[in-house]
Amino acid sequence: MKTTFTLRDFSIASAEAFDQKQVLIVIRDSSELPSLFATPVLIQAIDTAKKPDQKVFIIEAQYEWIDKLIILRINSDEPLAHQVAETARTLSGSLGIFVGKSLDCDEAIFGLALGVYTFKQYLTEPQEYFTYELIQNPHLISTELLTKIQSIYLARDLVNMPPNDKNPQKLANIIQELPWKNTRVKILETAELERLWFGMLLAVAKWSDIPAYVVVFERYLTDGTPPECAIIGKWVTFDAGGLQIKPDKGMLDMKTDMAGAAATIATFWYLDQCNVKKTVVGAIGLVENLLGGSAFKPLDIVRAQNGLTVEIHHTDAEGRLVLGDLASYISEIYTPKTMVSIATLTGACMHALGYNYAGLVSEDTALADRLKSAANCTHESVWQLPLDTFMMKGTHATIADRKNLTSDMMAGASMGAAFISQFVKNPTKYAHLDIAGPSYRNKPRGIFPSEGTGFGTEILVEYVIS
Ligand code: BES
Ligand code: MN
Ligand code: ZN
Repeated sequence: MKTTFTLRDFSIASAEAFDQKQVLIVIRDSSELPSLFATPVLIQAIDTAKKPDQKVFIIEAQYEWIDKLIILRINSDEPLAHQVAETARTLSGSLGIFVGKSLDCDEAIFGLALGVYTFKQYLTEPQEYFTYELIQNPHLISTELLTKIQSIYLARDLVNMPPNDKNPQKLANIIQELPWKNTRVKILETAELERLWFGMLLAVAKWSDIPAYVVVFERYLTDGTPPECAIIGKWVTFDAGGLQIKPDKGMLDMKTDMAGAAATIATFWYLDQCNVKKTVVGAIGLVENLLGGSAFKPLDIVRAQNGLTVEIHHTDAEGRLVLGDLASYISEIYTPKTMVSIATLTGACMHALGYNYAGLVSEDTALADRLKSAANCTHESVWQLPLDTFMMKGTHATIADRKNLTSDMMAGASMGAAFISQFVKNPTKYAHLDIAGPSYRNKPRGIFPSEGTGFGTEILVEYVIS
């Protein structure tokens, strides 16, 4: 099957000399100006500008060989990458970049690349893409950095794609056709999922002409040795809410309900391209939550992958059904030491934490701390929310073992994780990341553009490699 998806080619060319008409100079103060531009007037302008109000200086039509010089004076208020990204977002065309000695060049390049990201593949008018050249020492740019950028681009592209081009079947094809180097990618089709009793996941997908899939990623697994890490992600191509259909506005963002799985795929892409030799397994559940004559209903009772019966109390609480089956399957078959689920799981988490934090929910202090430290090494932030046995008990139903919603308990983000965590088999330690807020924005901030942000990729990569 043909899809319109191609992996974005991202490269930074090396340049021996300035052959760009536009140059971005990133410095901490005027002493770092390249001598070529260090005129007394410019030095004075930079030094006397009021902090932090003025930090961008634009010089046009002053030099014969350069049309536009953009000087960004970094301040200490915000991480470097965010500041470069904010400035880069205002630019277009091709660009050379020069980074002052006192600054982290990788961070500046990362900010530049993520700041200029756009998603224009669907416009029929031919688009001009941004190109960059690193003016000094191109060898500073590592494969790891370029791959990190490319992986985040991949996650963003997947989130921004329209739902009709990323349904479970098309996405399974897209994944299969990516040029994986050292990752084992297994596609489980519906018949196999039925045989393996993915009853909750299949209940969500049941309405549809498009079948459900589960994609499993394996890296460096040897028989009998439990993998260090596992990641499971929610791919709901479109979440209309099922029979308990979402109201008008609530549905408009729901092509992004696959962002958790997008971050999972992007993470495996990074591990693959950089050949990271950690034992790790991943799985994503691919479904659409629509409605139709054969749709699952409130009060249906379905059988989960691990045998528990689950009463459906809300057809719009579908993510936990998909992740619950993935959680029991992966923990049973692979017994990973730790497992992280990542999903756009609840509006409640977005209301609690806004767009800048993912909700982190775990009963295991060591794993929660590890994810917090992982986040601290990235540009992404997490905030821990509680999970306790009272919440777990709140998911117990009367005529079935569990229910997928407890309407009288509030604490929606925690309750979602409370449900999923009961499908994780001992001794796997488990944590959940709810990225409903930070995965999709209506306003850009720092390295995060509006719309798909690729959030989660950085934390997950760090979780695996740390
Ligand atoms: N995909 C949504 C959560 C969501 C909401 C993601 C807003 C991104 C932005 C999820 O499947 C959902 O519908 N959750 C419901 C749960 C409720 C029915 C218990 C919600 O949050 O309203
Ligand atoms: Mn839903
Ligand atoms: Zn959903």
